[in-house]
Amino acid sequence: MRDPLRRAVHRGLELTGLIGPLHRRQERELVRSFASEAVDDQRPMPPAELIVLVAGASGHAWFSERGRADAERFLALAAKHGLTGPLDVWDLGCGCGRIARWAAPEVIAGGGTFHGSDINRRLLDWCAGALPGTYFVNRLTPPVKLAPASIDLVYAYSVLTHLREKGTRAWLAETARTLRPGGIALLTFHDEDYARAWGPAEVPPLLAAQDYVVWNDALEGSNYLSAWTSRAYFTQMAQEHFEVLEIIPGQTDTAVQATAVLKRRA
Ligand SMILES: C[S@@+](CC[C@H](N)C(=O)[O-])C[C@H]1O[C@@H](n2cnc3c(N)ncnc32)[C@H](O)[C@@H]1O
Repeated sequence: MRDPLRRAVHRGLELTGLIGPLHRRQERELVRSFASEAVDDQRPMPPAELIVLVAGASGHAWFSERGRADAERFLALAAKHGLTGPLDVWDLGCGCGRIARWAAPEVIAGGGTFHGSDINRRLLDWCAGALPGTYFVNRLTPPVKLAPASIDLVYAYSVLTHLREKGTRAWLAETARTLRPGGIALLTFHDEDYARAWGPAEVPPLLAAQDYVVWNDALEGSNYLSAWTSRAYFTQMAQEHFEVLEIIPGQTDTAVQATAVLKRRA
């Protein structure tokens, strides 16, 4: 009884809009419990309240190590699929630079350009003041101010995972628009493996019956809402705009989301 009742109360808060202040209060509590660790990774470190906005109470060491691992993984995937030399790169939903802290210096040192965008100005202001590259606010839905066919590599880690299906489809189209022919998009999502390992218990059965599951359907674009879809359905959506090169399943041991490796058709 308790769970259906709790869900009903939650739904009431979502429908009345009261979930917003409640979610922000929970974030403030996470900031108070955030374990500040001394991490010296030779890069500017954002304050705890910004890390909590993008990654909950994960801690400085996690933020540093996982940011570095994701940056290395993304740049290696791009190289594996033919992107070498100076690259124009866009980090969609860059948050407070978890990946940009590592990727931006490397891309710029290689003669390329680095752009980060997000819907949250506080996060971007920190990036713009602390990291190399250019940073701009975008709206929850496209377009962005990048020119068509101006980008070689776009990546978005855990961004589509906070959007309804319409939003995910819109950003698939927009990332394809900004890429040069042959350009690569690396877009992460919550697949069925990730759902079984890390999702709420209710999500896997829902996902077996629905193509796209929205959990906590309010505050789109925030970490409150989470979206879940199978690798097969993500492939189907992506194929409308891209050649699908690889779909790397979500990892069950380290909570790395599934990654779609997509190529803009020539
Ligand atoms: C879970 S955080 C991940 C941040 C960053 N990519 C990382 O891996 O640390 C999700 C981020 O996506 C941003 N976001 C959500 N919807 C967005 C949208 N439509 N366009 C751009 N950013 C968005 C949020 O503001 C937040 O910074």
